Amino acid sequence: MLSAVEFSRSGPFVPAAAAAPMEADGSANRSQQAMWSIEFEKVSKSFGAHRVLVDLDLHVRPGEKVTLIGPSGSGKTTVLRLAMTLEKPTGGDIRVFGESIVFDAAGKPISGSQEARIRRRCGMVFQQFNLFPHLTVLQNLILAPTTVLRQSREQAEKSAFEYLRIVGLENKVHAYPAQLSGGQQQRIAIARALILRPEILLLDEITSALDPELAGEVLDVVRGLAQESKVTLLIVTHEMRFARDVSDRIVVFDAGRIIEQGSPEKIFTNPESERTRAFLRSILNH
Ligand SMILES: Nc1ncnc2c1ncn2[C@@H]1O[C@H](COP(=O)(O)OP(=O)(O)O)[C@@H](O)[C@H]1O
Ligand SMILES: [Mg+2]
Repeated sequence: MLSAVEFSRSGPFVPAAAAAPMEADGSANRSQQAMWSIEFEKVSKSFGAHRVLVDLDLHVRPGEKVTLIGPSGSGKTTVLRLAMTLEKPTGGDIRVFGESIVFDAAGKPISGSQEARIRRRCGMVFQQFNLFPHLTVLQNLILAPTTVLRQSREQAEKSAFEYLRIVGLENKVHAYPAQLSGGQQQRIAIARALILRPEILLLDEITSALDPELAGEVLDVVRGLAQESKVTLLIVTHEMRFARDVSDRIVVFDAGRIIEQGSPEKIFTNPESERTRAFLRSILNH
């Protein structure tokens, strides 16, 4: 699998701030000074009467690698979907590099175009790879760069090859998704997210749909990314060994609240909460 050396040799990772598109108002410059890449401030989310997140406060530094763990149904996916503006919070505010993705400067709900501009700073990879089955790997990769970013086909193909090299699949450029293993498809899905040069990458249980022997190759790609890239990573995973290796911080969720957080060392060897201990026992025993 890819070593850190191969990552640096391929070298397309520009520091996140330098890769940020420069806005007309110079906000890419502002982002270099932003203290937080993403902030959740007193965020609640309900579906009908069901309170899924309760007064969530979570601040993530630029470049920080943060993993959310906790029982199924505790609200982890909802946190990522809110960051990606796939859901709207019921209360509170969420900011990406200091800019609210909920309210505009006048405190009104943000407009669609403002939201789309800020959202472009985030990328997400899901449990299901969601590649377009009728498109080749190359076509899947260049679709968003040529449409959303309006890059030329030539430019988009050039970066597609760079990112295929990063995930170790240059030789699959003309394959269709159905001709790839699940692990390979997920590596393509990671390349497809990276090609848009997100400053924040959200990974939601990206190995849960894979057989264990295929999960490793996907996790190795993320390990390389965590070492070599300045991207902020917000990860949800049940792979505790992986979480321990890549994370600067582990955040433990239960029933829509953070019950504790800290370094991997602390959470995995000396957790404070009985609920954390119970969760870790349940996951390590199964
Ligand atoms: N669109 C939705 N409509 C209704 N309930 C939802 C929706 N999305 C999530 N939920 C509920 O919110 C809770 C938290 O879900 P989720 O964020 O997916 O948890 P996790 O990722 O930690 O397993 C669950 O009880 C789930 O059923
Ligand atoms: Mg989930």
